[in-house]
Amino acid sequence: MKLKTKDLLTLGELTPKEFSGLLDFSIKLKKELNQGKYTPLLKNKTLTMIFQKPSTRTRVSFETGMFQLGGHAINLSSNDMQLSRGESIEDTAKTLSRYSDCILARVYDHELLNNLSKHSSIPVINGLSDSFHPCQILADFMTIKEKKKNLKKLKIAWIGDGNNVCNSMIYGAALSGIEMSIATPKNFEPDKTVIKESKKATSIELTTDPFIATKNADVVVTDTYSSIHNRDPKRIKKFLPKFQVNSKLMNNAKNDAIFLHCLPAKRGQEVTSSVIDGPGSVVWDEAENRLHTQKALLASLIHA
Ligand code: CP
Ligand code: NVA
Repeated sequence: MKLKTKDLLTLGELTPKEFSGLLDFSIKLKKELNQGKYTPLLKNKTLTMIFQKPSTRTRVSFETGMFQLGGHAINLSSNDMQLSRGESIEDTAKTLSRYSDCILARVYDHELLNNLSKHSSIPVINGLSDSFHPCQILADFMTIKEKKKNLKKLKIAWIGDGNNVCNSMIYGAALSGIEMSIATPKNFEPDKTVIKESKKATSIELTTDPFIATKNADVVVTDTYSSIHNRDPKRIKKFLPKFQVNSKLMNNAKNDAIFLHCLPAKRGQEVTSSVIDGPGSVVWDEAENRLHTQKALLASLIHA
């Protein structure tokens, strides 16, 4: 499938139809892979990956995905590039556009992605910024769709930090018409503009009570209290013990509720082992689905 957008920076670029089409395409690619079928949709194409921050899942799933599609990925830490010696984003974007077919970047400041996008003639994918993590949310919604069969009439409860992953999840909820209730401590709410835009499409509730958020929830989600860009250990005190997803909180959701976490997780902080390693947890399918959704995304953004 083809997408209208050149880049994927927030998830807000997609229409509901494109979002749902990408999820269906991902499910098809997963099925084909499980049958041992590799379709070289990106034969001879190259993805350049730039990482300002560490990564396990994003890096390995993108590189593996390009390989399975018949293409190739180049992995660069920004320290290895002339960017570290002051070359501008503008010149970097123009140069990479002459060699490569797509750029994936994991950055601190989201504005850097906007600049990369502005100055490159090839697609730019956000592999996580301080503000958004759209690729994670494609995998999360694919996982929800697989487990719940469709995305209709569901409620997601987000517990903890209203961070980059939460911002993109709000866009995902709006694109699929899923209700979302977000429980955070005061001053840790997600982005106000994202909430305002998304409220036009679905119900987004903000609360400071995790038991209100998880009531009747089909999906319970959390993430670390200390994101890569926000590592002050004093933050943890603001979240514990109230904003921990433990068995008591999970039991407040629907009986068949599933648990999602983008990983890496800190057991004993945002989630207990009884939940993340328990029967409702789908975190390993969620991690696997990064591969399938990103293959669908790459094949839809990179045109022949
Ligand atoms: N969830 C996620 O993006 O993981 P990595 O930081 O390992 O890429
Ligand atoms: N919110 C986390 C997600 C890691 C995948 C971070 O930004 O570090």
